[in-house]
Amino acid sequence: MKKFLIHNKSLNGKTKVLGDKSISHRAIMFGALAEGVTTISGFLKGEDCISTIQCFKQLGINIVEENNIIKVYGNGLYGLKKPKETLYVGNSGTTIRLICGILAAQNFSSTITGDSSIIKRPMKRIIEPLKLMGANIESDEGYAPLNIFGKNLSNIQYNMPIASAQVKSAILLASLYANGKTTIIEKFKSRDHSEIMLKYFGANISINKNVIESNSINKLVAQNINICGDISSACFIIVGALITKNSHIIIENVGINPTRTGFLDILLKMGANIKFLNVRYISGEKVCDIEVKSSKLKACNIYGHIIPLMIDEIPLFALVASLADGTSIVKDATELKYKESNRIKTISTELNKIGANITETDDGMIIEGNKTFFASECESYNDHRIAMCIAIASLVCKEPIVLNNYKCINISFPNFFDILERLGE
Ligand code: S3P
Repeated sequence: MKKFLIHNKSLNGKTKVLGDKSISHRAIMFGALAEGVTTISGFLKGEDCISTIQCFKQLGINIVEENNIIKVYGNGLYGLKKPKETLYVGNSGTTIRLICGILAAQNFSSTITGDSSIIKRPMKRIIEPLKLMGANIESDEGYAPLNIFGKNLSNIQYNMPIASAQVKSAILLASLYANGKTTIIEKFKSRDHSEIMLKYFGANISINKNVIESNSINKLVAQNINICGDISSACFIIVGALITKNSHIIIENVGINPTRTGFLDILLKMGANIKFLNVRYISGEKVCDIEVKSSKLKACNIYGHIIPLMIDEIPLFALVASLADGTSIVKDATELKYKESNRIKTISTELNKIGANITETDDGMIIEGNKTFFASECESYNDHRIAMCIAIASLVCKEPIVLNNYKCINISFPNFFDILERLGE
């Protein structure tokens, strides 16, 4: 399926983006394990989060939608039912990795798998710590399908070898069931939505800098959760406004949890005109309205602790760096190879087709700036974030870029083109 992308536009006006994907997954999962009815407003009805709902329905949880509110009828920590069939997560890495932390502790066995991308993504990273806790998980040499035989788990102290919120969250979920206190030590901090929301649901979790301690508990208690707009979705629109001439937009109600705003911090350093208005807290998460105006940007190098704080936005960084003044370098970003596609390769290949000059390195990219993009035919590799990067690049092209396989955008941002077209009018 091909799409001629919106091109040669500036973006103007006010908008909102749909609910945060990471938070939406967690609200369903924690709601399912809590006692009572959890209500969720602002839930992201993208394909990934719908996969999470499907999996919990298969695990016997009643989940309904009424007037745009999702209601999760929690059955308690020990109330899940053995699924009749294999659990299927589609394209969602967050679903498969987090659920494993729960399934490992149940009194039944289950099998879980996903689409052609999921079965190529590494699962050893969750299997190893969960095995240390006593889990019994069979894999296809570290890849899905995974057969999980529920066991009694024990606590561990775990030094995270990579920065990954998915791994951390799988251990945190398992720790609810493990004897005693589980300690997780992060070298570099990753997104902390699980910590925030689990505490909200009554978990016994304490955080001291990069050390997280979680004690086993008897129950979680249902909550009303209000989900803010997804910063990772907002970043596509923000970059669209920055790189086009005469743009001025406001995106309302966007989550700005500091473990997610690495890219905004880097954009500010590059000279972006971005303002954070009406800063407030909703369901424990920091939220604001973001105002953006067209900006002239200069190059920047990114490496070390900032990488996990902007992990999903690095393809967008490659895009802005290609248009900025000077050469930018990305280091310490090997994790990008294990996303929905090998994002070092896919973003370099596609942006180079339209006039960028990006050299892939072992752990990142060297990005020459001051480029002018031109139209060509591009691929998404079925990776939603690559597809949206290409669509944003098209805004500064004189002719439309043609994008193949664009439907994957529905994974995280189903109304992406509607918003872009409205702001581009
Ligand atoms: C996510 C964590 C990140 C991120 C993904 C969502 C989450 O993955 O890339 O889109 O919701 O926990 P890793 O934790 O594997 O880096």
